[in-house]
Amino acid sequence: MLKEYDSERLATATADEIGDALEQGCIVKFPSCPVQLPTAAELETLRTKLPQQLKSKNVSYHPEADRVTGLEDNSPIADLAYTALTNHRDRVTNFLRTVMPALSKDMRVGTCSFRPLEEKGRNLKPHSSNELIHIDAGAYGATNGDRILRFFVNVNPDVDRIWKSKGAFPALFEKYGRDAGMYEDLTPSLERGLSGKARTSFLNGLAKVGLPLAPILDSSPYDRVMRKFHNYMKDTPSFQETDDSVQTFNFEPYSAWMVLTDMVSHASYSGQHALVYTGLISLQSCRLPEFAPFNILRAAA
Ligand SMILES: [Fe+2]
Repeated sequence: MLKEYDSERLATATADEIGDALEQGCIVKFPSCPVQLPTAAELETLRTKLPQQLKSKNVSYHPEADRVTGLEDNSPIADLAYTALTNHRDRVTNFLRTVMPALSKDMRVGTCSFRPLEEKGRNLKPHSSNELIHIDAGAYGATNGDRILRFFVNVNPDVDRIWKSKGAFPALFEKYGRDAGMYEDLTPSLERGLSGKARTSFLNGLAKVGLPLAPILDSSPYDRVMRKFHNYMKDTPSFQETDDSVQTFNFEPYSAWMVLTDMVSHASYSGQHALVYTGLISLQSCRLPEFAPFNILRAAA
């Protein structure tokens, strides 16, 4: 499930090797982050000054609005956060376009966030908690089957970030899909109906008249089914119980890793200070579409 690329292996990776690994449900880990990080001074400010300025779960740069959210109004570190996050976003985007050109061909670049707080013991509501094992769904508007790629960097200088996983969507759906009630909501196409298309047009229209984040409120039949699975995982104590299927991953300081989080279940068990980049990979760009949750659900319908 984990494929590790040091600089030597990365330099000799073939054009589709890393993209294929992601589509097969691997976590691709880089022991040393392969992109230039924010400066030491920027990281120190993000780690030490940002938590006091925080007004939501994370601090995120939103490309649709070209602004950073999650900080107190008139925060003195707003400019620094903007610079650090946008530079990081550009560097990761360039890296992805180089190491997996096919998979990233039509990728939409999403948010770039800094997670400032210790994950363990945050006592967030279950559906918002990173500590519970889940797949990502419905948190980024309507994907309509496009894939959620996340690229993480542990920028804590001393402490590992620790993940737990129960494996990837194909096996999870087979084992838990019926119990989660997913079959009740499946339609053969999983496409939006007329009302769904009207909702999308309306939200896109709002984006054009000054509400750039409105499309994040959009949804689709596929995204709702995936959200149901996400909620089932977090709401079901027996699913969260540790058993033989749970794997633990340690990400050391300044290591990086990327994964299709719509597919690979994950929980941030512990750790503090991470950069998180999100890209939406077009389903059409997948070389192994049979592994995509959208196609697995359509086949099940
Ligand atoms: Fe997640």
